[in-house]
Amino acid sequence: MTSETWLEQALSQSLTKPLTHLVNLDQPLDLQGYVQAGGYIGATKALTQLTPKEVLDIVSDSGLKGRGGAGFPTGMKWSCVPALQDESKQAEPSYLICNGDEMEPGTFKDRYLLEGVPHQLIEAMIIASYTISANKAYLFLRGEYHVAATRLQQAIDQAYENNWLGKNIQGSKYQLDLYLHTSAGRYICGEETALINALEGKRATPRAKPPFPQVSGLFGKPTVVNNVETLSNLPHILKHGSQWFKDLSPNSDPGTKMYAACGQVKNPGVWELPMGVTIRELLYDYAGGMKDDVNLKGLLPGGASTDFLVEQHLDTPMDFDSIGKAGSRLGTGGLIVLGDKHCPVAMVLNLLRFFAQESCGWCTPCRDGTPWVVEILTRIEQGKGSPADLAQLEDLCDFMWLGKTHCALAPGAVEPLKSAMRYFKDDFEQHIEQGCCPYKSSNNEQQGEQTESEKRVREGVSQGGENDE
Ligand SMILES: Cc1cc2nc3c(=O)[nH]c(=O)nc-3n(C[C@H](O)[C@H](O)[C@H](O)COP(=O)(O)O)c2cc1C
Ligand code: SF4
Repeated sequence: MTSETWLEQALSQSLTKPLTHLVNLDQPLDLQGYVQAGGYIGATKALTQLTPKEVLDIVSDSGLKGRGGAGFPTGMKWSCVPALQDESKQAEPSYLICNGDEMEPGTFKDRYLLEGVPHQLIEAMIIASYTISANKAYLFLRGEYHVAATRLQQAIDQAYENNWLGKNIQGSKYQLDLYLHTSAGRYICGEETALINALEGKRATPRAKPPFPQVSGLFGKPTVVNNVETLSNLPHILKHGSQWFKDLSPNSDPGTKMYAACGQVKNPGVWELPMGVTIRELLYDYAGGMKDDVNLKGLLPGGASTDFLVEQHLDTPMDFDSIGKAGSRLGTGGLIVLGDKHCPVAMVLNLLRFFAQESCGWCTPCRDGTPWVVEILTRIEQGKGSPADLAQLEDLCDFMWLGKTHCALAPGAVEPLKSAMRYFKDDFEQHIEQGCCPYKSSNNEQQGEQTESEKRVREGVSQGGENDE
């Protein structure tokens, strides 16, 4: 395909797939190509025609919600920054941080945008920084994203050379410096206050909130932390307007969403779709359905720290409210799919090993609770568990739940465990009654694979913790 044909095809999708229509994973557009494809129009509009407050109003009106996991309204988050409440505070330092840590197992959507269209993110960061009156912005990137790091740094250099970063951007009075920071590599660095500590060169433990970062964040100054996908929407909202953004989705959660699927599916991948596509559509129309003709046992709808949903939930729209009502969270929108020939106890154990490894150790329920859960699950999975272990797991789920820890890592770890014990209770009980894993004795094609996974499970917490995405 010639570059002209590629561009023509890409532009034909600019209104329906705003985030991804310019993605080119082989060779992303350089600054000139991005500008020719309509890039930097949103940033130009913000810098030359709108005040920060007017940009805030457009973003608030669009209804954009954070795509980093919690779904917090972006406009509302920004509106807490003192400079947007009182113009006299615009001269005081404030910071924008783009969260590109993406270490949640089963989540790889941001990588697609980081590697495939780096200038879109730079444009987005200019718009967000201008709005909150920040003259310094940081892009905190997962340490293992080497390709993204190289491409982003090249794009940042091009942006400086062409006066999209630095002083008097495009003749305006606005100045912005943008720094790429690659993480040393801990899952907890994705939590916004731990991320801020890491950027300051401190140990990456979360901070107590309040104060929230919008008031006192990086170096004690007002700071907004937003996810890569959240920010990437901004150039398009500025260019096409908030009503266009709302109209992208058929329901009350506006925009498109970067959905993904992995696990026991035929066609794992990432897709930008209107917010609210059903789980069934995502699983069967995009991810190709179940692999190896296994049946669906359950799925985590939004990364490793969300609750299992099952067959009865397949027609649930993948938006924040609907998935919440079904008993889980949209999280990052990445399905992790479990087939009925694989052991749910082993899967949950694998996830809990990750969370135990990644606990920062600040609070007791998480530091002591996650390895304790791993110990019990290992026993059950090896066929050495007792009914008392199930009661103990229930107690631990309460011990580690929301409100009992400084951050959401421990409650997030509880979500797949608690829901697995609800939906797959029989499996837990069979391990105990039969004194072995029932999936290992079944004569299915997956047996070899399971034995390998079991081997890894037995390596224990001390050697575990790899991200299995
Ligand atoms: C343990 C943990 C890990 C997190 N990892 C990420 C991450 O990798 N990327 C991300 O955007 N948000 C992550 N978050 C959420 C951030 O704390 C924060 O809410 C988010 O970056 C805000 O962006 P948004 O408002 O655009 O969604 C994590 C939260 C927790 C508790
Ligand atoms: S919940 Fe876990 S990761 Fe979060 S602050 Fe407490 S110990 Fe650290």
